[in-house]
Amino acid sequence: MTLPAMRILGIETSCDESAAAVVEDGTLVSSIVLSQADHSEFGGVVPEIASRCHIRAIVPVVESCLKRSGAGLEAIDAVAVTLGPGLIGSLIVGVAFAKGLCLSRDKPLVGVDHIESHIAAVGLEHPEVDEPMVCLVVSGGHTHLFRVEQGSSLELLGCTRDDAAGEAYDKVARMLGLPYPGGPEVEREAESGDPKAIDFPRPVKLKAYEFSFSGLKTAVRYFIERHQGEISPGLRADIAASFQEAVTDVLVDKTIGAAKQAGVRYVSAVGGVASNFYLRKKLTRAVEARGLTILLPSPELCTDNAAIVAMSGLLQFRAGRTSGLDASPYSTRSYGDPRS
Ligand code: KG4
Ligand code: ZN
Repeated sequence: MTLPAMRILGIETSCDESAAAVVEDGTLVSSIVLSQADHSEFGGVVPEIASRCHIRAIVPVVESCLKRSGAGLEAIDAVAVTLGPGLIGSLIVGVAFAKGLCLSRDKPLVGVDHIESHIAAVGLEHPEVDEPMVCLVVSGGHTHLFRVEQGSSLELLGCTRDDAAGEAYDKVARMLGLPYPGGPEVEREAESGDPKAIDFPRPVKLKAYEFSFSGLKTAVRYFIERHQGEISPGLRADIAASFQEAVTDVLVDKTIGAAKQAGVRYVSAVGGVASNFYLRKKLTRAVEARGLTILLPSPELCTDNAAIVAMSGLLQFRAGRTSGLDASPYSTRSYGDPRS
């Protein structure tokens, strides 16, 4: 039986990207991501500024996305929007806008979870894979390992006890005097550094799939303080490369361990940090060395965008799951108790 074509408008405002996208069936039709530049001078996202930027951006972003899609709102079957987790003030802007659109045009609303959207990036680019996989969600707010099976809820295998990996990248960037967002800056800086120059600590005594990055962050801080006044461009690159080596060692080791235990053939990584080429290469090498298959969404689908929101919305809509106009945004969510 062929299903009727379905066109979903996705809206994303969970942090500092105002984004809209149209996905028809499993294909991306148009996507716009407006990254807020207003935070860079503060070294991190300022929630109040983010909300105000979303208010200014939401109408033009959605309008140009629909225009680029070649058809207007009338061709849209449902509107998907990120409900959370994220910055509550930012989420409220997207959710209120999506509700208004649905109410005025009599369209169904599909509230989606931000982490589920990140994972939907894999399905958007690899629709042929319908087997269970282990997925590392690694972003500014999350470092979570899940066993993912189509049509069932996420099974949390482990997560970070403290900082997320992206947060650690952002903080180390700040210590090195690099602008926000720090991840891409540290990656660039690390290109000319020696990853073996400084032996930053990898966390020990953690449960199987737990992560912790606060000790590493502190070790980088102490190293920088000890070498105050003598940080040459070469040493700065070595710090960035050695920090990146430590983070990616941990991410790769834990993901491989989880894949072995879960007995899956497919391994994926999603979220902003998964756009990091050093991590992508290292994880791909490790996964393939074990005879498994890596599924990495394109870098632009790893960082926050609305294509993944529309895709996640499409999966829910197809499964008959829509939201009422009373759906509320949420800033945090627990994804269950890890088994280990
Ligand atoms: O998924 P995302 O866009 O937003 C959240 O859901 O948090 O992830 C943003 C995070 C930031 O911490 C950013 O510094 C990090 O992902 N990031 C990177 C890279 N690009 C973005 N971290 C390391 N290397 C990158 N190339
Ligand atoms: Zn995200």
